[in-house]
Amino acid sequence: MSEPLNILFIGDIVGLNGLAMVTKFLKSLIEKHEAEAVIVNGENIYDGKALTKKHAEELFAAGAHIITTGNHIWERWDARPLLREERRILRPLNYPRENGGSGYAIFKTAKGTKVGVLNIQGRVFLPPIDDPFKTAEWAVQNILEETPNILVDMHAEASAEKQAMGFFLDGKVSAVLGTHTHVQTADERILPNGTAFITDVGMTGPYDSCVGLRTDIAIKRFMLGTPHKYETATGDLKIAGVILKVDRETGHAHSIERIIFPEFERTSAPVTAELPSAEPALINAE
Ligand SMILES: [Fe+2]
Ligand SMILES: [Fe+2]
Repeated sequence: MSEPLNILFIGDIVGLNGLAMVTKFLKSLIEKHEAEAVIVNGENIYDGKALTKKHAEELFAAGAHIITTGNHIWERWDARPLLREERRILRPLNYPRENGGSGYAIFKTAKGTKVGVLNIQGRVFLPPIDDPFKTAEWAVQNILEETPNILVDMHAEASAEKQAMGFFLDGKVSAVLGTHTHVQTADERILPNGTAFITDVGMTGPYDSCVGLRTDIAIKRFMLGTPHKYETATGDLKIAGVILKVDRETGHAHSIERIIFPEFERTSAPVTAELPSAEPALINAE
C-alpha cells in the first residue's frame, strides 16, 4: 500500500486574530502532521463575515490549497467578485448557480495526487437553498471521475443533518467534516464504509467569546432580543482542526484526529458529584 495522504482541515477562522493564528502556525502544523493537502474554512475572517482577496492570499501563502466558506460569505459585497475570479475559494455548491462562484474544486498535491474538495450547506435553521444531498451526490459523481480522494465541508447548523450527510456519502468520499457551529465535537470516527466524519471541526479564533462574538454583546443579544453590532472577541486564540490519513488509491480514510492548538487549560478543580446510593430508595406505592 502506498503511503497515506495526510489532509489537514482547519475549522471556521474567526476574525483577523484567528487569521493571524493561522498565518503564524499553519506551516508548523503542516510540518508536524506531514500534511500534503491543506483546506481551511474562511467564512468568518472579516468581522465575522467573509474574507477579502488579501486575506485569501495570506492563507494561500501560509500553505492552504483551498478555502471553503459558508452562509457568511455573501455578507460582504467584495467577496462576490473574489469568488468569481479565485476558483480556490469555494462557496456552498447548493446556493443557486446565479450567485456565482464555485462549490467544488480539484487540485493536485506536491506528490501529484488529485484531491477534490466540495463545500455544501445544510438547510435546517439556514436559508432554504437547493437540496444539499442531491447536489452533493451530483458533485461527488463528477469528482469521482478524477479522484477518489474527496473532502466534503458540510456547513450546517443541525447535528443530525450533518450526520445524515456523513452516512449518505459514506464510502463515496474520504471525509465529511461539519463546520458552522464553531464548537468542536468529540464524535470523530470512521463510518462503516470508510468515510471519516466529525459533526463539527470547531472554531479557529478567540475562545474567550460566544462562538467568536464578544461575550458582552452576545449576552445583550440574548437578553434584549434585539440586534447589536457584531464585534469579534480577542482573547484566548486557538486553532481547531482535524488531520486525516487517507488511502490515496481508494480514497477511504484510515484515521481522523482532532486538533486544538494550543490545548485547553483545564485549571479548575474537577467536578465531583455524590454518586447515587447503591440501594435505591423504595417508593411506597400506597
Ligand atoms: Fe462560521
Ligand atoms: Fe456559517
